[in-house]
Amino acid sequence: MSFEPSARIETVLSEGRVFKPSSKVQSTSTISGFEKYQQMVDSAKSDPNKFWGDAALKELHWFEPFETVLDWSNPPFARWFDGGKTNVSYNCLDRHVLNGKGEEIAIIWEGEPGDIRRITYKELFMEVCKTANALKQIGIGKGDLVALYMPMIPEAAIAMLACSRIGAPHSVVFGGFSSEALRDRLNDGEAKVVITADGGYRKDKIISLKKAVDSALKNNACPTVNSVLIVQRTKEKISFNPERDYWWHELVPAQSSECSPEYMDSEDRLFVLYTSGSTGKPKGVVHTTAGYNLWAHLTFQWIFDVKKDEIYWCTADVGWITGHSYIVYGPLSNGVTTVMYEGVPRPSNPGAFWEVIQKHKINIFYTAPTAIRAFMKSGRSLPDSYDLSSLRLLGTVGEPINPEAWMWYMEVIGRNNCPVVDTWWQTETGGVMISPLPGAIPTKPGSATLPLPGIEADVVNADGDSVNEQEGGYLVVKRPWPGMMRTVHGDSKRFRESYWEFLKPKDGSYVYFAGDGARRDIDGYFWIMGRVDDVINVSGHRLGTMEIESALVSHASVAEAAVVGRSDEVKGESIVAFVTLEGSNELTDELLKDLKMHVVNEIGVIARPDEIRFTNALPKTRSGKIMRRLLRSLASGEEVKGDTSTLEDKNVLDELRR
Ligand code: WTA
Repeated sequence: MSFEPSARIETVLSEGRVFKPSSKVQSTSTISGFEKYQQMVDSAKSDPNKFWGDAALKELHWFEPFETVLDWSNPPFARWFDGGKTNVSYNCLDRHVLNGKGEEIAIIWEGEPGDIRRITYKELFMEVCKTANALKQIGIGKGDLVALYMPMIPEAAIAMLACSRIGAPHSVVFGGFSSEALRDRLNDGEAKVVITADGGYRKDKIISLKKAVDSALKNNACPTVNSVLIVQRTKEKISFNPERDYWWHELVPAQSSECSPEYMDSEDRLFVLYTSGSTGKPKGVVHTTAGYNLWAHLTFQWIFDVKKDEIYWCTADVGWITGHSYIVYGPLSNGVTTVMYEGVPRPSNPGAFWEVIQKHKINIFYTAPTAIRAFMKSGRSLPDSYDLSSLRLLGTVGEPINPEAWMWYMEVIGRNNCPVVDTWWQTETGGVMISPLPGAIPTKPGSATLPLPGIEADVVNADGDSVNEQEGGYLVVKRPWPGMMRTVHGDSKRFRESYWEFLKPKDGSYVYFAGDGARRDIDGYFWIMGRVDDVINVSGHRLGTMEIESALVSHASVAEAAVVGRSDEVKGESIVAFVTLEGSNELTDELLKDLKMHVVNEIGVIARPDEIRFTNALPKTRSGKIMRRLLRSLASGEEVKGDTSTLEDKNVLDELRR
């Protein structure tokens, strides 16, 4: 992987504003005051095994206790809580029902058309058991991979929990991915079944999910998939294959509502979730049972500190890690009421988020900077027209948040009454790693502040040495933590090389390289600068430039393609593609449209290039590497600075400038 310091990492923010936790926030927080945070940091540092071991015993239910806390004898392959047996669905459901919380609401769901469901812990427990039994009936057992390709409906959470109940790892594929992308993920994970819906609502249109599943499976393209379970959501007409397809509403309600949880080893796989990397195809990030459960549970508790009768809402989709950890597992493991919303702000209802907050009296709201920036652009009159007084804590995730957006969020949405927590983490980390604890850590707009207790984050140079204050470098984590990914599905070499061997300290220790650039200020606060590899972040969606390039070159007219991110006021980054055409193909508007559509078909609408530029050649080094740094400057209309001496053909640059 090449590290080309880009403008992104050279930008040094000078931000002087500091917001201390108010006395009200401090007095109502479990972790109140900086000293308490510091004590936790110190005890995690002085005896990590005791710190994590105590937390695991306290926060999770164990059918059989673990023997060791961490086995790091074969780095970078960690084993946490070996010997222990637990079950994630038990931790999310049974124990709450047994503790008298059966009648409390687990999920409040609102569909895009406005239909609402409130599901108690007891009801959720029974639905999960029935679904688990239904999966068993169609031949799914421990270790079998279950793929989900679903809209944001309660059945998505129910299916995830049902999988964890019977020990069948799930692989949730975001419903916005194309059938091609779905097929790749089904085959890579060797999925046995796909759970889907006839369709889902998205911006007042219907997305035909079942149709996409049919085309992914066409001509036996996914030989491991034996069955498809379909939730009826939109009631649109679908083609039904009686040899393979089952309706959820026929199969599930007929099952018994009792299903004993499988006793899972701590290190049994809980799920695989595909995410984009800097090379090749998306990688299946593997998370296992106990460590992930503990990390989602603890981080949720530390950061959001949800009180009895409070309502929590995270706007993510269950197709992403944020949905896994902070819509489903974190809140439910803590016995909290979690809101699931199928819709997004859309022309027919631009105030959808504020309406949901007002209607359900949301106390804790967790969303992405891209949404905040979009609202900021359209002005405060819209949010001002809703009653947002129930809010007490605001969170952001997924991309760097600029200080202006952070301030706007605090002032306009939080009415200067809510702390803002900017949480840094990744699919790979399982849960949040760097974030303010609202009752303990003063915030600065644009900074994710300090690592959570037990997380030893640092900023280092290419030799793995810590850099000085204010200097940019690579963001790393120097110790294993329970929620860390365990491997890349089917490719442990890739896991080792891309995360743990890219930066190798002289002492031979293993440090986790996140792929982000960062700097620390004089207070030790972390400022995340964005990716330093070939991953881009478009509206909080993580995409590999190589994936989009492969999609483009798979089009018959394209010879070569290079994709870069261009900074975008609202989306964070937008996608710019530089393309050379095959032989005598001519550039036409038709072809331009066709190429964009081709990327949508290959990956999904989230990867559609915002701009495609045609050129006769791409700038390359003498060894044939595309010089993306130059393309990034060109895409953003900046002057090309820095060294161009390695450029093979200087004329290429002149042509591109023109
Ligand atoms: C970026 C999403 C700055 C970062 C949870 C990371 C952030 C990638 C933040 C992971 C933040 C996430 N500030 N950047 N608070 N949170 N990122 O795997 O570049 O979809 O590497 O996980 O998002 O994206 P992923």
